Amino acid sequence: MKMTGNTILVTGGTSGIGRALAEAFHDRGNRVIVTGRRPALLEQIAAERPGVIGLPLDLDDPASLSRLSADIQAGFPGLNVLIANAGISRPEDLAAEGWDASDAEAIVETNILGVLRATAAFLPILKRQPDATIIATSSNLAFVPRADFPTYCASKAFLHSWLQSLRHQLRRIPVEVLELAPPYVQTGLTGAQQACDARAMPLAAYIAEVMQLLELRLHPRDEVLVERDRARRWAERDGRYEATFAAMNLS
Ligand SMILES: NC(=O)c1ccc[n+]([C@@H]2O[C@H](COP(=O)([O-])OP(=O)(O)OC[C@H]3O[C@@H](n4cnc5c(N)ncnc54)[C@H](OP(=O)(O)O)[C@@H]3O)[C@@H](O)[C@H]2O)c1
Repeated sequence: MKMTGNTILVTGGTSGIGRALAEAFHDRGNRVIVTGRRPALLEQIAAERPGVIGLPLDLDDPASLSRLSADIQAGFPGLNVLIANAGISRPEDLAAEGWDASDAEAIVETNILGVLRATAAFLPILKRQPDATIIATSSNLAFVPRADFPTYCASKAFLHSWLQSLRHQLRRIPVEVLELAPPYVQTGLTGAQQACDARAMPLAAYIAEVMQLLELRLHPRDEVLVERDRARRWAERDGRYEATFAAMNLS
């Protein structure tokens, strides 16, 4: 993708990876629109960074996406990059008495349907641009699951597969499709403790490595994988799948 002069819409732009990516692209001379459900954060980001636009979006509410899509068509017809990054993560104990599928449904709604709906809403605009890119955030848990986050990991495996098909179907249209598959990164995704967990990759270091990979186009198969991602990505190919799964899921 080109790294400057874009008009970029980021879902899940109010915090964590989405916000940091939005800031990194803004620093490189892009017009950036961040979206999310928390109005106070949208206002704060726009106030701190003149030029960044904050617009409300709840991906679980189709009316909210329709409103945003109409606003973008009217106000930002040059939109050429969608970063479909919003996601939620919840642990689930499938063996527990009284387990129900409510967390699984919420994860599917946001992580899977949210990406599909955002793509459907903005693809018509992207297709009109000479240089367009869709970046969707999966996870390296798409490649080997953590069993205490079953639906979360499966939602990311879904995206990994779906993005390959999207990329293939768009092969004759100049819309690049990139998959961002982060390792464990210091954000508030699973709660405040993750943001300072020493086992997680510092957010600034993750974003710096991603921007460098994008800049140098070092993303074979259109997968943006930082160094920390690679062992898990290739565990199955390299005959380490069982050992990797066992190390991640102690019994
Ligand atoms: N951090 C990691 O270790 C890690 C690893 C692999 C993949 N990822 C993926 O990276 C992405 C970003 O996560 P993060 O780690 O940066 O966590 P985060 O700080 O919690 O960011 C999640 C973002 O998604 C937005 N969001 C959640 N539900 C939404 C909804 N219904 N509608 C619209 N926006 C919604 C949130 O904004 P509002 O609350 O304002 O709506 C927030 O901006 C996620 O897809 C996550 O699965 C993260």
